[in-house]
Amino acid sequence: MEQMLEDLKRIEAEAKSRFEQVGKQEELNELRVKYLGKKGELTAILKGMGKLSGEDRPKVGQIANEIRQSLEEVISAKTKELKEAALKRQIEEEKIDISLAGTKLEAGHIHPLTRIIDEIKEIFLGMGYEIGEGPEIENDYNNFEGLNLPKDHPARDMQDSFYITEDTLLRTHTSPMQVRTMAAKVPEYPVKVICPGRVFRRDDDATHSPMFHQVEGLVIDENISMADLKGTLLKVMKQLFGEDREIRLRPSYFPFTEPSTEVDVSCGICGGKGCRTCSDTGWLEILGAGMVHPNVLEMAGYDSSKLQGFAFGLGVERIAMLKYGIDDLRVFYDNDIRFLGEF
Ligand code: DAH
Repeated sequence: MEQMLEDLKRIEAEAKSRFEQVGKQEELNELRVKYLGKKGELTAILKGMGKLSGEDRPKVGQIANEIRQSLEEVISAKTKELKEAALKRQIEEEKIDISLAGTKLEAGHIHPLTRIIDEIKEIFLGMGYEIGEGPEIENDYNNFEGLNLPKDHPARDMQDSFYITEDTLLRTHTSPMQVRTMAAKVPEYPVKVICPGRVFRRDDDATHSPMFHQVEGLVIDENISMADLKGTLLKVMKQLFGEDREIRLRPSYFPFTEPSTEVDVSCGICGGKGCRTCSDTGWLEILGAGMVHPNVLEMAGYDSSKLQGFAFGLGVERIAMLKYGIDDLRVFYDNDIRFLGEF
């Protein structure tokens, strides 16, 4: 019995000191199995109790139980301590220093071309226009024929096109939206619409891109004259470029308007006196326009003896270049953040 008690005391002391030194919960679990488990050291000693006398057995049993209990207490105290230490460590590691500077999120902004289109839309909405949109893949009729440009018309040469089939192409201008708008509306009037969108031509240099943007305008009503066209465009240009700007109309030719005109806006750099930007003319060419050709009205089903209309086509890139003083149109499509960041 003496030997047994000695062994128990030794195991108790050894277990306690090892439990105390443990730094991880897993190690503690392993030690618990080693000392207190079914195949543990304490159990191994108790297995020898059969050899003890009936008198000694309960004594040793009691002492063994006390030892087990006291070791369990050490383990649970240690477990608690380890948990607290782990939590403390976690809190330390995850501490957020709210005095540190934050990560700045760079907000993007609207592309300069989109901004011009938005501005143009606002101006026309304010004058009671509707806004229309149409497909970039068009048929020959809408892009050309319905605009008084029959097959083999020489004016088709002005718009070098990307054909998909003989009858379908990437629209070369937004003017097919005139044909589409009239087809959807006839015989109703007035028509008062602008249609912004992408257009495509086989051109590629500093002032021409194979893809660019236009805004088409169409007005159809009774008693519409060239004066309405000029008044409208003057108002728009003043809102777009500034109240001090003037416009002038020069005769031109488009198959879908008669008469046709090229519209210039006075140069903002020299105020109309003449400078490098305006090639010493004092004027900048800005858009094509005219009175809707009677053939175009008739083909759409409108009575050209009763109704008139005016139409215009603005080049968005051209306006952006003049407004922001940009001399190479390709910068709009390069996606160079240094350029885009200027706006
Ligand atoms: N569609 C013409 C072009 O791209 C521009 C244009 C001229 C549109 C006169 C019009 C217009 O509506 O009346 O060259």
